[in-house]
Amino acid sequence: MAEPLEIAAAAEVLLDTGPKPLAGKKAIVTSGPTHEPIDPVRYIANRSSGKQGHAIAAELARLGADVTLVSGPVTIADPEGVKVIHVERAEEMRDAVIGSLPADIAVMVAAVADWRVASASGNKIKKQPGEAPPPLLLTENPDILKTIGHHAKRPKLVVGFAAETQNVAENGRSKLERKGADYILANDVSPHTGIMGGDRNTVKVIGKLGDEDWPEMDKQAVAERLGKLIASHFS
Ligand code: C5P
Repeated sequence: MAEPLEIAAAAEVLLDTGPKPLAGKKAIVTSGPTHEPIDPVRYIANRSSGKQGHAIAAELARLGADVTLVSGPVTIADPEGVKVIHVERAEEMRDAVIGSLPADIAVMVAAVADWRVASASGNKIKKQPGEAPPPLLLTENPDILKTIGHHAKRPKLVVGFAAETQNVAENGRSKLERKGADYILANDVSPHTGIMGGDRNTVKVIGKLGDEDWPEMDKQAVAERLGKLIASHFS
């Protein structure tokens, strides 16, 4: 299954001289946050910008893959050369990803909300003078990466991300196993790092054969390096 990370270098040579390394391969990428409605005007969201997922989708397309990007609500443009499905909620994202199978590669970058409001109100919830704030009862969202990692049509290569604020390596490795991924790109998104929503990223690549620390680089460079790693599995 997974090959040593060092093989990634071979794919670089291929891209320069030969056919595109991911030609004929289909990839599904998720990106951005999800918005989980509370009522028609309010929602639960997170700080994901979609920059990393969109850069990865564009890079896989540059390497020759037929890419479907399932994007949550973001303010950045759709990447060139990629089919984009726009969604808002985690359940819509799950349906779009499952509906895009079969695929050879899945890279789940989206910061999917772990919870949604159990029953979102059809009307705007009104503030009632003198009354306590309304309680929000949450329910768990589907885990899209875990679903794909254990799916009957599981892509050959499944990659996830792990945004952590503590125990980055340990949490990343347990996610690798629990979610059935081949690689987890774990990063520390503590506020002082500026990664969430920012342009740069520092990731630890956790694979079945070991870990690799990538130095801090911009999100485009992370996409290019991940593209090489993915291509090495198909060369
Ligand atoms: O469990 P956690 O949210 O930290 O896992 C992060 C990884 O799982 C990311 O790859 C993310 O895209 C994916 N994920 C998902 N569906 C969820 C939660 C996370 O696909 N409901």
